[in-house]
Amino acid sequence: MESGPESGLSGAPSGCFDRAGAGRHSPAMAILKIARMGHPVLARKAEPVKNPADPGIQNLIASMIETMIDANGAGLAAPQVHVPLRLVVFQAPESRSDTLSEEERFDHTAPLTVLINPEIEILGPETEGGWEGCLSVPGLRGFVERPNHIRYRGLDQNGQPVSRVARGFHARVVQHECDHLDGILYPRRMNDLSQLIFESEVRHWLKAESE
Ligand code: NI
Repeated sequence: MESGPESGLSGAPSGCFDRAGAGRHSPAMAILKIARMGHPVLARKAEPVKNPADPGIQNLIASMIETMIDANGAGLAAPQVHVPLRLVVFQAPESRSDTLSEEERFDHTAPLTVLINPEIEILGPETEGGWEGCLSVPGLRGFVERPNHIRYRGLDQNGQPVSRVARGFHARVVQHECDHLDGILYPRRMNDLSQLIFESEVRHWLKAESE
């Protein structure tokens, strides 16, 4: 998912991802080309990762993180870099939820996270609307309604289980990235395509909302 102009993601990797823990060898990193809407790799169902410790997977993870940071994204899914595997990286920074109390913030934020073979469970009926962008749909924003209370599970970059509850932007970014693994881009989740707009026009909508 593309981060909004308000996200405060300046490009510096958070210290939460331990590169040394990503494997005994040093993964080779590269900035990868991002597939854009219309490329078949974005429309197909991705395959499970068989062995997270595989050096090829470790290199892919390192390169996806570099690519996401370089593109100022909040998340990136492997199909977006032309690899049809069930692997996503994302972060939900505190700057996204700084109006909340410290306790509330817990479920709303996530450090830089690698999630392999993820599964999502929806925990409540409430949904929330928010503006989304996508590195594979450059220049556009769309207003998407999604469940706002979920649990997700998967494996981290060391093959260890991850299980977290997520709300707010955190829940949104995880659902957006996992949709990529099933060949779904956010415009397909929109109820009203009149809310698919150019990034340069977002200010008109933000103004309307605050009035
Ligand atoms: Ni996306």
